Amino acid sequence: MPTNTRVIFKSHPEGMPVRENFEIEQIQTPPLEAGQFLLENQYLSLDPYMRMLMGGGWTYSGPGMTPGQLMVGRIIGKVIETRNADYAIGDHVVGRLGWQSHAISDGGDLDFKIEPKEGVPLSAYLGACGSTAVTGWVGVRIVGKPAQGETVLVSAAAGSVGSAAGQVAKAMGCRAVGIAGGAEKCRLVTEVFEFDACCDYKADDLAGQISQACPGGVDVYFDNVGGPVLDAALVNLNKYARVPVCGVLSAYNDRAEHYGVKNLHLVFDKTLCIQGFLLSDHTDKWAEARAELEGLVASGEMKYRETVAEGIENAPDAFIGMLNGANSGKQLVKLT
Ligand SMILES: NC(=O)c1ccc[n+]([C@@H]2O[C@H](COP(=O)([O-])OP(=O)(O)OC[C@H]3O[C@@H](n4cnc5c(N)ncnc54)[C@H](OP(=O)(O)O)[C@@H]3O)[C@@H](O)[C@H]2O)c1
Repeated sequence: MPTNTRVIFKSHPEGMPVRENFEIEQIQTPPLEAGQFLLENQYLSLDPYMRMLMGGGWTYSGPGMTPGQLMVGRIIGKVIETRNADYAIGDHVVGRLGWQSHAISDGGDLDFKIEPKEGVPLSAYLGACGSTAVTGWVGVRIVGKPAQGETVLVSAAAGSVGSAAGQVAKAMGCRAVGIAGGAEKCRLVTEVFEFDACCDYKADDLAGQISQACPGGVDVYFDNVGGPVLDAALVNLNKYARVPVCGVLSAYNDRAEHYGVKNLHLVFDKTLCIQGFLLSDHTDKWAEARAELEGLVASGEMKYRETVAEGIENAPDAFIGMLNGANSGKQLVKLT
């Protein structure tokens, strides 16, 4: 059986995680029991929720981690040995099996088995056809529900969830306007993801930028970040606007110092609907969403970017980089 290289959660970070919060270890993979199969992991997905898990307390993504535990994360694995008739050698699966080069599964802990589709690369099942894009799909289609011709504003628009959310809105006949950090990311949002405009939250006067980019106001604000960006969005919302709250990226590193949103009175003034949502509450929609996203990716209508680090040993640095905005689109680690 092969040696498994894995990343262990070593200690709780103070603010931004550092390399010392992680430890790399190698263990021998045990022999398979009846019903099990062995995966050689191909890709690991790195996501902001992992920072919340490193805090140790409650998170939207399950209980916080304790030191000594395998880092939580979703992988694409290839079956290389099997004692389970439903999983043949060469099958690819997606599941939350952790930051490791190999994993043993009995199928019960997986999200789904990949049915290969022409025009959809394997890695897309962690991004453009994976849980992040499905999150964007749910937030727009099920929660925000924009009508054709409405304006949808999306924060963290250069990232995996945000880029998908804007493109799903475009596919519904809406105008999509992004918010991202810096001129280069804004260019990515308009030129590659084909949003109609993008505002730079690191430049001055975000509220004024949004007002210029959305002359008819904003009907749906897809919020990935909270904080001052939410304040700037609130002043630009139209009456009866909807705000699907997907995440609070601005607060994951320092939850003790929560920013107090100043413009909450506008929820009443403008009769707004602000609604948090979790992907895990919409499992009944995953297959439908994935099928639509596969179609959009295969036809080339859905554009996506992947930032890919190489090797499980480099996962901690790639994760810290993602939290600092070094990624464009989906942050992955290629494991083989
Ligand atoms: N509700 C659910 O079930 C669910 C499921 C999956 C993901 N999510 C949430 O969706 C959001 C996006 O996740 P993702 O995987 O697509 O991550 P991502 O956008 O690919 O990566 C993080 C990006 O966030 C931006 N960012 C970091 N700190 C920020 C800050 N203080 N203010 C504004 N932007 C900041 C950076 O982009 P810039 O360089 O542009 O700043 C960075 O590239 C997160 O809040 C995540 O927790 C929720």
